[in-house]
Parts: sequence; C-alpha cells; structure tokens
Amino acid sequence: MHRILFITLEFSAATFSGNGVYAQSQVRSLTQLPETEVLVLSAKPCGHTGSSQAWGAQLLELEVSRWGSLDASAPFDEFASKAGGSTVRQKVAEFDPSVCLFVDWSSLPAWEAVRPSLTRGIPAIYCNYRVFSRTETGEGLELVRRLEAESMEKSAATVVLSASDRDYLLQNVSRCAASDSGKQSPCHVLLCALREELNSLPPPPDLGPLDFIQIQGMKASNGLICQAGSPGMAALEGMAEHELSHSCECPSSGGLTTASSPSPAQLFQTGRPYLTCCVRLAREKEPERFVALVEQLAKDGSLQRHGLTPVLVGATNDSFAQGIKLRLQSAAPRSILIERFMGPQELATEVFSRTRLNVHPCTYDAFGMTIVEAASMGAPSIVHSHPGAVGAADLLQASNHEVVLENLAAEPPTLASRVVALLDDGDKILLVARRAAVRARSWTEARNALELLHIIKQATACSA
Ligand SMILES: *[C@@H]1O[C@H](CO)[C@@H](O)[C@H](O)[C@H]1NC(C)=O
Ligand SMILES: *[C@@H]1O[C@H](CO)[C@@H](O)[C@H](O)[C@H]1NC(C)=O
Repeated sequence: MHRILFITLEFSAATFSGNGVYAQSQVRSLTQLPETEVLVLSAKPCGHTGSSQAWGAQLLELEVSRWGSLDASAPFDEFASKAGGSTVRQKVAEFDPSVCLFVDWSSLPAWEAVRPSLTRGIPAIYCNYRVFSRTETGEGLELVRRLEAESMEKSAATVVLSASDRDYLLQNVSRCAASDSGKQSPCHVLLCALREELNSLPPPPDLGPLDFIQIQGMKASNGLICQAGSPGMAALEGMAEHELSHSCECPSSGGLTTASSPSPAQLFQTGRPYLTCCVRLAREKEPERFVALVEQLAKDGSLQRHGLTPVLVGATNDSFAQGIKLRLQSAAPRSILIERFMGPQELATEVFSRTRLNVHPCTYDAFGMTIVEAASMGAPSIVHSHPGAVGAADLLQASNHEVVLENLAAEPPTLASRVVALLDDGDKILLVARRAAVRARSWTEARNALELLHIIKQATACSA
C-alpha cells in the first residue's frame, strides 16, 4: 500500500501554468494505481471560490495572499507557515503517508513544516518540474539555488523532466562534492506524460492509420512507414532489426496513390493551413522569435505561396504580450490570435489538428508540453537545436524524425529559408507528423505513473 503525500503550490484552484496542469496529471494517474492513496497539499489564492478538482485524491488547500508566479516571488513562505498550522499537521499525521512527493523548490519549506508531525521517518522525492536557477536573476537567484540544492540533499531521489535539467542540477546546483557522490540523491529523468484524454481522441484522418510498427533504430531517411496489416507485415514479424531495414516492402507515404488523386502529403497540406505558436506570452518563452519568422515569411511571399495562416495562442495580455500580438498582426493581418485560455482538448481539436507546423520559439524549456500535445494530433514541431534546450526533444527524437531541430537563434532570413525548405518537402513533413503522433501517444499518464511508482519503490527500499 502506497500512501502518497503530494505537496505542490499550484494545483487545480486558479491554475495559471503548466506546473499546475502537470501536477494534476501526476496525481490523477497515481490515484488510478492499485493500492495507492494520495493526499494533496496545495495553495490557492485568498478568496478563490469554486470547487477544485481533486482527481480521486484527498485535497487540502491553504490560502495565500500572492498568486500567479513560481519564481522567487512565489508565496512559498506563506504556504509553509500555513502548512505548519496544527490542523494541517494533524490531518497529515492521520493520513500517515509512506512517502512524500514535493514539486519544485517552492514546496520544500511546506514539507519541512509538516514533517515533524509524522510519527515515522518517510522518504521524500523532489519532483523538479523546472530548474528555476537556470533562468532566475538578481536576488532571487541565491534563494532559489539554495532551496533547489536543499531539495536535492533532503530527498531520496530527484526527478526531472529532461536530461539537460538533470545535468544542470548535478553540475550547477547540487552542493555534494564529487567525492561525496554516494550521498547525493539519485537523479531520475521522467518524461512528461500525454494526457489520456488526448490519447482517446482519434488521430486526424490526414495522418492515415497510426498503428504501424515503430522500428527502433531503423534509418528514417529511407522514408518508409510500415503499416500493420500491409502485405509484407506478417512476414516481417520476428525478423531481426537490421534485416527489417533492408527488406521492408511497406508502401512509402506516396506509394499507394495514382496520378489522379492527391497524395497523402497534399491532403495533409490542404487540411492544415496553420503555422502555429502556442506558448505563454512571457519573455522567457521568447515568442518574438516566432513573430520575426512570420515577418520574414510574409515579406518574401512564402506564407501566401504555401497557403499558411499564422496562429498565435496565448492568454496573457500584459504590455509585453500586447506588443507581440500587435507586431504579428501588422506583419500578417490575416493571422489568428486566440487570447482565451484553451484546455488541452480544445487545443487539440481546434488548433493542432489543423496545424501544418508548430513553432516552439524558446531556446530553453524544461519540457514544453504543447509540443507533445501538438504531436499527438500530428502537428510536427520545430524546436531549438541546441542539445538539451527543450526537454520534449528527449521524448520526441529528431534522429527518428519525430521533431525538427533548427537553430532558432539564427537570423530571421536564415531561419525562414530553412523553414521554407521544410515546407517544400511535403513528404518529410508528413513523415514527421506521423512519427511524432505515434511517439506522443505511446507515453501516457498511466506509463508515467508506473515509472514514478518504480522510483518511489526504489527510494523507499533505499531509505528503509
Ligand atoms: C552550468 O552553468 C554554466 C554557466 O551558466 C553553463 O554554461 C553550463 O552549461 C551549466 N552546466 C550544465 C550541465 O548545464
Ligand atoms: C488586451 O489589452 C488591450 C489593451 O488594453 C485591449 O484592447 C484588449 O481587448 C485586451 N484583450 C483581452 C483579450 O483582454
């Protein structure tokens, strides 16, 4: 029996970032596991009304006076002092957790505040959704780096969303000397999960059937997609990988068409007019890189030639966001701006299923959940090429043509010419679309929860 105490500042009340979305996803999937109970300790803004989703867990919400940020200005101190109150401590003691999962540095003080109420020592697992000391500046940096280092020291395991975050924590945050490495909490990489609700949506028809066999290590450059049930398929089963890559006789993406009907690549192109960008319109997401690309594509006539409509999804409306929107509209007056908050399902059906290319503009992102959401709908993404820049590229692999890497920091004309070359190659875009969809749909909340459970078991065994 696992009794999990899950501590996170942001959860289902007044969710404002991917952290809250991902925390709910993890809790929802953990409560689906057999023999598992979850108590969530989270914050909510003072005066927030309306019921919160508990996703099968018990939920304790503590009111805080500040809201809307997770950086050094987050209400981590208030959250901790409320968590130390006698009622909360009593409820946590009654729940009698066997393990604590806490999200980010901002939940560590709350964990420390409730811990003394427990009658037995239990292991903690530090769930790092984002390495804040990578982007924090000024006075906040010292605070965040100290609490991130303590979070690692005081946990049996640290879980991150990308290999690059793991390397950063080990090299620049952890205070354990190399000689001391026995004491260091093991750092695990957990991929971000695709929500089951997206997995249950049918893939768009322009992708064709997706139940083809994914052949690991097969050279993607031959452009072959092996469809289950296709003539050569039964014969392929049981063959060694290297044999497969030579003898696969499955149709290529254009192989089944006749001259008179449009090719799958053409169908994909006509059904998908959107050039999409979907990030919070904040500086650290660098949406101006998308706008600069659109400016260039508009100037040289590529938008029109390819029948593309730029779409910008972003609910923020501060002065920075307004500047981005204005600039986009003046570059391409027919762009679509979506200014309300869109849930994953709405994004999938209204935006990503009509997206030919999704541009994820930032040069660092701990994960970038919308890349995987786009992928599940067959919208290929362009992400920054610097190794480890974007966590989702650990899941969607460029070497297997599941995502396209480009240097997004290049001058706009250079980047635009690369994008145009890709747009001109309809077969390549369709290949990436299909492979991205298969990969995204293979990593579900349920798989994510099993992986997390495995880490919990290891941590429990180590500290027993
Ligand atoms: C550690 O920080 C330095 C300076 O910011 C950076 O150049 C380096 O890449 C970081 N190490 C890792 C593994 O990310
Ligand atoms: C964003 O702010 C501008 C300027 O104040 C305003 O005109 C516009 O309606 C706002 N948009 C939304 C979606 O609130």
